[in-house]
Amino acid sequence: MTRDFYTAVEERRSIYGITDEFVITDERIEKIVQLAVANTPTAFNSQTGRVIVLLGNSNKDFWQVAFESLKSEINKEQIGKIEGKFKAFASGYGTVLFFEDYEVVTSMQEKFPTFHEQFTEWSHQASGILQYLIWTSLEYEGFGASLQHYIPAFSYDIRQQWGIQHGWKLIAQLPFGKPIVAPKEKEIKPLDQRIVIIK
Ligand SMILES: Cc1cc2nc3c(=O)[nH]c(=O)nc-3n(C[C@H](O)[C@H](O)[C@H](O)COP(=O)(O)O)c2cc1C
Repeated sequence: MTRDFYTAVEERRSIYGITDEFVITDERIEKIVQLAVANTPTAFNSQTGRVIVLLGNSNKDFWQVAFESLKSEINKEQIGKIEGKFKAFASGYGTVLFFEDYEVVTSMQEKFPTFHEQFTEWSHQASGILQYLIWTSLEYEGFGASLQHYIPAFSYDIRQQWGIQHGWKLIAQLPFGKPIVAPKEKEIKPLDQRIVIIK
């Protein structure tokens, strides 16, 4: 690998056209996720992030569960649109589910009451860092991915099957796979209006 960190940052994009073709081994995916979960910073080192990686049929099952859960809440027009989107996510190699462990968040709030409000915000911020790290890592390895925020209700059976523990709150999903569609053009607002450097 000759691509450096900065190239990886530039090349991480939202990629919606993905397939389930081989890119890297499942063991390597696991290693990447382990590296990210172990090294993502968290407030007071609370380590609130939890991750489930769904591959193969589990990936397809997740998007089916998400569709069934959402179907009753949306109108007919939206149903067709969402179904198409979820089918595209399901046709990828896998999906990373990002949770935050609210049992840990609550215990931190009890331990440090001065920061009671901040702990929920910090938990979300830390999750964002973790999401970004796994997203960038997977793209660096040759996958394409996008960040999604559909929050289905999980049945007791699914919770048991996938090991979703009590207190885990689903924050986001990252469907990924072999990219088959280039990212859209992206406008980057002028940086001199967004960054101030004072010497
Ligand atoms: C906090 C956050 C929430 C996002 N939510 C979604 C989402 O629900 N669905 C989606 O397709 N993209 C989502 N995105 C991706 C952004 O739309 C995307 O990153 C942005 O348009 C820039 O494009 P790029 O990812 O190709 O650089 C989200 C990104 C962030 C940081």
